[in-house]
Amino acid sequence: MNKKAAATRINELREEIQRHDHSYYTLARPTIFDQAYDALIRELKDLETTYPDLVTPDSPTHRVGGEPLEGFRTVNHRSPMLSLDNTYNEEELREFEQRIRRGLKLAPEDPPISYIVEPKLDGVAVSLVYEKGRFVLGATRGDGERGDDITENLRTIRGLPLAVPPELGPLEVRGEVYLTHGGFKLLNRQAEQENRNAYVNPRNTAAGTLKLLDSRIVARRPLQLACYGVVDPGNHHLETQETGLQFLAKIGFPTQGGRVVTGMDEVLETIHAWPKRKRGLDFDVDGLVIKVNQFSLWGSLGTTSRFPRWAIAYKFAAEQKTTRLLDVVFQVGRTGAVTPTAMLEPVFVSGSTVSRATLHNADEIERLDVRVGDTVVVEKAGEIIPKVLRVLTEHRPAGTRKFVYPKRCPSCNSRLIREKGEVIIRCVNLACPAQRERSLMHFAGRGAMDIEGLGEKLVLTLAREGLVKDVSDLYRVTAKDLMPLERMGEKSAENLITAIE
Ligand code: IVH
Repeated sequence: MNKKAAATRINELREEIQRHDHSYYTLARPTIFDQAYDALIRELKDLETTYPDLVTPDSPTHRVGGEPLEGFRTVNHRSPMLSLDNTYNEEELREFEQRIRRGLKLAPEDPPISYIVEPKLDGVAVSLVYEKGRFVLGATRGDGERGDDITENLRTIRGLPLAVPPELGPLEVRGEVYLTHGGFKLLNRQAEQENRNAYVNPRNTAAGTLKLLDSRIVARRPLQLACYGVVDPGNHHLETQETGLQFLAKIGFPTQGGRVVTGMDEVLETIHAWPKRKRGLDFDVDGLVIKVNQFSLWGSLGTTSRFPRWAIAYKFAAEQKTTRLLDVVFQVGRTGAVTPTAMLEPVFVSGSTVSRATLHNADEIERLDVRVGDTVVVEKAGEIIPKVLRVLTEHRPAGTRKFVYPKRCPSCNSRLIREKGEVIIRCVNLACPAQRERSLMHFAGRGAMDIEGLGEKLVLTLAREGLVKDVSDLYRVTAKDLMPLERMGEKSAENLITAIE
């Protein structure tokens, strides 16, 4: 094939692939079998290999990621990425409406305002810039004025259009990158198989993924995109947020849509219908965003330095569930603090199964007067860390006993110390095995050296087999030492040594 024919075919292939990506990832309506799709990608790759100067950054072959970066470039946002004022109660939504009516100098007899109510996805805000129809820049929110250039990472998200109709002129879109519960579970299954620490929640995992310097790893994680805003909508002859969302969907962006309603009463009705809807979703929605629908009113209302006056987030209260307390175990942390953890009958709260919750300290146990066998109310604070809120004493079985804090360390049996005026009870034995294990875990973990493949389970094995006592021992371990361990082949032993090095 000559170069001219190749160029034509390359364009055809890119368009066809983008069509299938859009149907699959945005509309969730696959239009091609996997094998046929792979064949299109392969044909495109072959042509691009033969004619490297026909390769462009918006080619779908780049969805697999490229060479790792040294760091992210900082970029100025062309228009600031604001945050949203938020509330948990309906009273304040009425006040929001009153502020708007006053701001617009509306009299009580003037017609009600038209709002759009959109789901507030719990992910990471991104800005997407298109020039001459091509995706040229993607950035994080950063401090609102300046963010990180994460273009290469965003390019790997299959639902993100790499090209839009060039006749639109410059286009900037705002949206949220997130992980579905299904995607999150998949990543945690992989982490478990590879002996790595579990990811904490979908939001943090999505944020952490976008900050990876190696876009090839990003490409393997099932990130999703939902867009909710067009910057300078007037440039695209848009008059309402509703038509803005329709415009985005039409040119290939995934959106979660919104519901247009008239007046605050209808906003509240929509809110009331949400808890039920939320349960059926495979992703975290932490609230709803209520926006004035008319863009002309956005201009009149303006913004504060932090958020727009034409929108507000209504946050759902954390979900609460009751379950039974099976046991309390005392864990010794890396600094010797002994903290109680409630072992619970597994219960599904805010998107995941909870089987343990922190009880913080002795004072908290005293305050709750929690006992084994009790029925307790739990919630995920900030939808992340499960917490025991209170005990339903009316359901308390007979014969329970008040909890006594252990006097001796559950790991090394040395006497525990509580300093005057302190709530924390500590093991002060520097040779305490639990403290050592915990500090090794901390050292190997994400917050410190981030040693790939050295998760909590493996740290425990290394410590308990006597291979590692302190951090310096990690650097003495050899592949030979590791190989007798369970689930440790030659390759994984060598990989771990390389990771440590
Ligand atoms: S509008 C100036 N709409 O919430 C207003 N934001 O707390 C910009 N978010 O940074 C935001 N879903 O990342 C808007 N439907 C939605 C949203 C949404 C999620 C996030 C967004 C923003 C944060 C503000």
